[in-house]
Amino acid sequence: MTSICEIFCGVFLLLYILQPAYSFSSRTFVGKYFISNQELKTIKVQDWMGCLKHCHEEPLCISYNFDKGLSKRCVLNKHGIEDFIYADSDLVDDAGWIFHQLKPVTKRTNKSRNMIPCQCNCGSSNQCYPPPPGLGDVPEKAASSCKEILEQRRQAQDGAYYLQASPSYKVYCQMTPISDCGDEGGWTLVMKINGSKGTFRFSERYWKEQDAYYQEKYGGDLSEKETKLKTFQLTSFDDMCLGMKTLNDIKWVKIALKRGQQNMEMFPIFQKPYQFGFKEISKEKWEGLVESNLDDTQTDSGSNIRNDKAKVRIGILASKSYIGFGTGGAMGNISCGYVRTDTKQVQPTFGYILIR
Ligand SMILES: *[C@@H]1O[C@H](CO)[C@@H](O)[C@H](O)[C@H]1NC(C)=O
Ligand SMILES: *[C@@H]1O[C@H](CO)[C@@H](O)[C@H](O)[C@H]1NC(C)=O
Ligand SMILES: *[C@@H]1O[C@H](CO)[C@@H](O)[C@H](O)[C@H]1NC(C)=O
Repeated sequence: MTSICEIFCGVFLLLYILQPAYSFSSRTFVGKYFISNQELKTIKVQDWMGCLKHCHEEPLCISYNFDKGLSKRCVLNKHGIEDFIYADSDLVDDAGWIFHQLKPVTKRTNKSRNMIPCQCNCGSSNQCYPPPPGLGDVPEKAASSCKEILEQRRQAQDGAYYLQASPSYKVYCQMTPISDCGDEGGWTLVMKINGSKGTFRFSERYWKEQDAYYQEKYGGDLSEKETKLKTFQLTSFDDMCLGMKTLNDIKWVKIALKRGQQNMEMFPIFQKPYQFGFKEISKEKWEGLVESNLDDTQTDSGSNIRNDKAKVRIGILASKSYIGFGTGGAMGNISCGYVRTDTKQVQPTFGYILIR
C-alpha cells in the first residue's frame, strides 16, 4: 500500500514541479514534523496521497505534515520553511511524520522575512517576527518535565507547558525558584488540595489510583482550585516542594526522597506495602509551613504515617498533633493542614505539591 502511494505521490509531485506557474521545487522531509504557528486544520486521510490532495486543493495550504502511523493525520499549514528565520528549529525530528512543502510561501508571509525576530511573545506581530515555539510550547514539542524545559530554556517563565503523554497535556511549571525550596526552579505541579474539602483525604482513591482530577481546568496554574495531574504517575523526581497557604502567603518546605530511591514517581509511594519514603527534615521546618507548633511528644514524618488517631500521606505526626497533606482519622476532619488536639486547633490550609 505504502509503496503504491509513494509512486503516485511521486508522480503527483513531479507534475507540480513541472507546472510552469511554480518555479518552485517542492521539498519533502521524511521523519520530520514542521511546527507552524498557524495550522489551517487537521484532518484524517486514507494515505499520503489524500493529504497531498487536500493541501493542493486548499488555496491557503502551503505545506502539510502527514502522520505515517495508524492515525493518518494530515495537518495543513499556512506556512512554509522560508517563513521562519529559525527554519531548522521548526522542523523537528519525528520518525512517524512526513513534512512536505507543496507551494512557495505567499507574498504576505514572504514579506515577513525582512522583519526582525521578537524578543518575546508580547503581541504586535506586525513589527517583529514571532519566535518559533520552544520545548513545551506546543503539543509536538512536549517535554518530560518542567525541569527539562528549564534546562533548555533558562529564560522560561512560570506558566503552563506541554508535557509528554498520549495525548500530551498542559501542566503548571514553576520556573522561577521558590526560595525555601532552593535556588533552582523547574518545579512540576502534581496536586493542589483544599484542606476543608474531602477530595484528597488520606483514604481517598486519588492517592492509590492514577486518575487525574480537574487536570485540564485547574492543572495549569497555582489558583486555589483542587487538582491532581498525570504528573503523579508520569513524572519522576528526587525532590518535592510542599506549600501551605496561611492567611495571605504560602510557606514552603523541601523534602527529598530517601537515598537509593531517587528518580521515581509519586504513585508507587502510596501503594501498599508502603516501602518508600522521604529523608527526615527538622520538626521546625514542618512547623514553618503553618507557623504553629506541634505538641512535644515524639514525631514520625515522611509518607504514609499513622497512629491510632490520625493518618497522613505526606507530613509529620505527633501523638496529639500533625501537619500534613492527605490527612484523615479521628484527630481532625481535614484533608490538608494542621491539627492539635490539646489546644483544640484545627486549621485546614490550601496545599501545593510540586516535584523536580
Ligand atoms: C520570496 O522571497 C524570496 C527571497 O527573498 C524570493 O526569491 C521569492 O521570489 C519570494 N517569493 C514570492 C512568492 O514572493
Ligand atoms: C475550600 O473549600 C471550602 C469548602 O468547600 C470553601 O469554602 C473554601 O473557599 C475553599 N478554599 C479555597 C482557598 O478555595
Ligand atoms: C468530614 O469532612 C467531609 C468533607 O468536608 C464531610 O463530607 C464529612 O461528613 C466529614 N466527616 C465527619 C465525620 O465530620
